[in-house]
Amino acid sequence: MQKREQWGTRIGLILAMAGNAVGLGNFLRFPVQAAQNGGGAFMIPYFVAFILLAIPLMWVEWTIGRNGGRYGHGSMPGMLDVLWKHPIAKYLGVCALFVSTIVMIYYTYIESWTLGFSFFSIMKTYFGMDQFDSMHGFLSSYTGAGKGYFESLWPAYLFMLATLAMNFYILSKGIKKGIEKFAKVAMPLLLVFGAFLAVWTFTVGTPDPAGHPDWSVGVGFAFIWEPDLAQLGNAKIWLAAAGQIFFTLSVGMGTLHAYASYLKESDDIALSGLATSSINEFTEVILGGTIAIPIAVAFFGLAQTQVIAAGGSYDLGFVSMPIIFQQIPMGQYLGFMWFFLLFFAGITSSVAMSQPLISFLKEQFDFSHKKATYSIGFVIFICLQFVVFYHEHGFLDEMDYWAGTFMLVIVALIEVIVFAWIFGIDKGWKELNRGADIKIPKIFKFIIKYVTPGYLLIILILWTVQGQQVSWLLEDTFGIIMPEFMKQSGGAIDTLIMSGVDAEDIPYRWASRGMMVLIFVGLIIMVKIAWKRNKPLNSHFDV
Ligand code: PHE
Repeated sequence: MQKREQWGTRIGLILAMAGNAVGLGNFLRFPVQAAQNGGGAFMIPYFVAFILLAIPLMWVEWTIGRNGGRYGHGSMPGMLDVLWKHPIAKYLGVCALFVSTIVMIYYTYIESWTLGFSFFSIMKTYFGMDQFDSMHGFLSSYTGAGKGYFESLWPAYLFMLATLAMNFYILSKGIKKGIEKFAKVAMPLLLVFGAFLAVWTFTVGTPDPAGHPDWSVGVGFAFIWEPDLAQLGNAKIWLAAAGQIFFTLSVGMGTLHAYASYLKESDDIALSGLATSSINEFTEVILGGTIAIPIAVAFFGLAQTQVIAAGGSYDLGFVSMPIIFQQIPMGQYLGFMWFFLLFFAGITSSVAMSQPLISFLKEQFDFSHKKATYSIGFVIFICLQFVVFYHEHGFLDEMDYWAGTFMLVIVALIEVIVFAWIFGIDKGWKELNRGADIKIPKIFKFIIKYVTPGYLLIILILWTVQGQQVSWLLEDTFGIIMPEFMKQSGGAIDTLIMSGVDAEDIPYRWASRGMMVLIFVGLIIMVKIAWKRNKPLNSHFDV
């Protein structure tokens, strides 16, 4: 077995972990989720999910990770295997390996757009496209989804290559000299850029020449922050809030575990985990919440902003922001700041997504670090071809839904049950508190055991059944009438049968699923082989 690396410094670890969590989700996904789900109506379920899901899960993940590292494991199959003496445990761990791999594949592509748009800002490439239609055309022609400025996919392809190369360059240097060193530069810069843009947001006043008094940053803030208690009964908002909390804190993916596996045996988890989550929430709620939505309200008004947000994260980040940059002094530099900030946020997250797989190949198949890194880079490169060329057909969306939204919850449920019920909450609690620099309130022991798993189960059930198709099925076949709030489409079963998907995109969506199944099966086979051949590493049960 190769000697395991360790983090260099505590601040380095915290910045790397924060880099893992702070990503495109904080600046693009959060504002859109908040706006689509009624602004202030969203924030209460969001904070409830933060306390009852994210904080406990994050502690659980750090603990599972640090413990796994002690036995030489940096990925979930081995980590669950040491917690639970059952042959199935390692296969459950495959779910996490699967999620991080799939998310890595599509995330890299979106991340590469931010690099591209940084360049287009400095070069003023999109200047002149100051209407929603033309700027939208700029973006969709870049990604191959429509007509506009770009005539081919080559620019997008080249930025994808550059992004992939940078990711794997950092990864090839390892934990301390690669990930940690990079995070120490990227994270402070990201925070400075973010703070600068947030402060600048307050200076724009009411920029609309027609002088709409209610087109202002203040109105945008009120929209996000005024709680709307009447909406608290809407299950859709609770689901969206929980989904966002998962994605933004990188829980349910195996990446926090992988980073935590490089901790020393009695390094603190309690405080470091809380610190990184707090950095993430500050970046998301304060910076991410200040920049995109309030500024859009100032320039386009609240009604129009909601229309933009309904179009999704891309419209807000890559269409509405560039239109604004064209209308302000020094817009090209602010535009660069915005997109480069996104790029840093993205790359410190995407390197984390490859780490579990790298550890897996090194530990289970004795690959050298370089060989592990480059082989994964190669596989991701191959998969990215489909993501890039079939983007317009929803190939990426399919991956985002199944891996980036649905499977995370499954992984979280598996790990919390294995941790609190099989490994046992008493042992787990002791392990979590070993070396702790703060005293975690006892109530969290109860939350981890009962509330978090219960919450996750309810989410899964609602998610699965929520949907028009299902309600027809139930009504027509069994005479069961579903409550109105469950009838909105978007549940897992609805998505499974692809209601609402363009007929011509269906083959591509299936191709995307096919690729995911292949990867999943490939990982299962690898775990099977690994456990057959690698006895010493995988037989630590009784230590
Ligand atoms: N948390 C990251 C974000 O907010 C995404 C991420 C997912 C990072 C999975 C690592 C692992 O964008």
